[in-house]
Amino acid sequence: MNTADTSATRYGGVAVALHWIIAACLSVSVILGLIIGNVEESESTERALAIHKSFGLAIFALMLVRLAWRLTHRAPPLPARMPAYQRIGAALTHGLLYFTLLAMPIAGYVAVAARGRETQFFGMFDVPQLTPLSRMLSQNATTVHVYGQYLIYALLIAHIGAALYHHIALKDDVLARMLPRR
Ligand code: HEM
Ligand code: HEM
Repeated sequence: MNTADTSATRYGGVAVALHWIIAACLSVSVILGLIIGNVEESESTERALAIHKSFGLAIFALMLVRLAWRLTHRAPPLPARMPAYQRIGAALTHGLLYFTLLAMPIAGYVAVAARGRETQFFGMFDVPQLTPLSRMLSQNATTVHVYGQYLIYALLIAHIGAALYHHIALKDDVLARMLPRR
């Protein structure tokens, strides 16, 4: 089996679906996170936080599936004339995106759980308390979570910038192979 289809020139349906579902969940999570972090606490921010946490946990679960999929399926080859430094840059950016999208939800969860606060997944079930109660652990995890957002922004600027550069300037099929098949 392969992430690419039989001609191996594009990502397969599962990889494309996971890419865009996670991108959508991330957009919701970041927008709600920014609202929570920047407006005064109220009943609405409590609700926004609950949704933020659920989308964040969904990203974590989907990233685990995506990682397993990626490790067992080959990505389609990059354009042959792409220079080595760009190949290394792409691999590094993708690797760091995998890492931060797994680390951010963990840090968010630890920040909440170490303070003894509950986390529900879309109101369906409680996420078990997996950390000791520790104010220090919670504060450190909050610091990682709050600063981690800037790593995500930097990676996404590079990532989306590169995708658009390929599409608009180089006019190759790098963007098209990650888009749903028409
Ligand atoms: C990829 C997933 C996630 C992303 C990208 C993300 C991103 C963010 C961002 C941008 C903020 C605003 C930080 C600020 O400027 O103050 C935030 C705040 C917060 N997030 Fe997340 N988050 C994610 C997952 C989670 C999860 C899974 C939880 C908990 C289960 C969580 C709990 C929190 C909490 C409690 C805050 C408020 C922190 C504070 O200001 O005290 N997050 N998140
Ligand atoms: C917003 C959140 C996004 C995240 C978290 C994200 C993450 C990723 C990751 C981790 C990969 C590597 C796939 C793999 O080989 O496993 C990837 C590939 C790709 N992404 Fe995104 N992406 C996002 C948004 C976008 C957007 C908006 C575009 C287009 C403008 C885009 C275009 C692409 C393309 C074209 C590839 C394939 C690159 C290649 O073949 O090497 N992504 N993305």
